[in-house]
Amino acid sequence: MAGEYSKPDFWTRRALSEGYPARSVYKLKEMNERFSLFRRGDAVLDLGAAPGSWSAFVLRQLGGAGRVTAVDILPICAKMEEGDFTFIQGDLFDESVRDRVREGAPYDAVLCDAAPSTTGNRAVDTARSSALVETAMGYAAVMLKSGGNFAAKLFQGSGQGDLLKKLREDFTSARGYKPQACRSGSFEVYLIGLGKR
Ligand SMILES: C[S@@+](CC[C@H](N)C(=O)[O-])C[C@H]1O[C@@H](n2cnc3c(N)ncnc32)[C@H](O)[C@@H]1O
Repeated sequence: MAGEYSKPDFWTRRALSEGYPARSVYKLKEMNERFSLFRRGDAVLDLGAAPGSWSAFVLRQLGGAGRVTAVDILPICAKMEEGDFTFIQGDLFDESVRDRVREGAPYDAVLCDAAPSTTGNRAVDTARSSALVETAMGYAAVMLKSGGNFAAKLFQGSGQGDLLKKLREDFTSARGYKPQACRSGSFEVYLIGLGKR
């Protein structure tokens, strides 16, 4: 995210020049080019969406023929230029938030770039990240269409194997993927599930 680190790098400067507040947009762009996570006309759920780069990118890709529902504790600041956009401000662990998200179901793709506030204790941070991914998988279990796709960010740690195992049960194919736009040295990976069973 812009502001997450003190010195804007190449990707951050490029994101801002293209109207996106966060460099993370290039991770989604790369994953969508590689895995076709969503396409024109789709309904897409974006969990952990602030400041809004992923949602803005998805809306542009949908070309006015789909819709995005986004959730975050923090407000969205990206300008949503086109399309059908719903923002739910709240905690994705809350039942009331889940109920509001369900109003827009079913979705063709569930994306989750949510990241916990880091403590510096790697075990704590990876456990919190795993909990976010598990919760996103819970949303996908009931709100993602059959055949739909899933991508969620995980801080790599001991839970990765179990989460991938569960994804392999629920999707035709599942894998971990590290986009090139991830910061060098970052320990994040995206868990991808394609074709919900
Ligand atoms: C890396 S940022 C997402 C960047 C976003 N994909 C973009 O491109 O603009 C991670 C976000 O996860 C959100 N987040 C973390 N825990 C959350 C939770 N329990 N419920 C909702 N949002 C959460 C944070 O508030 C933060 O905005």
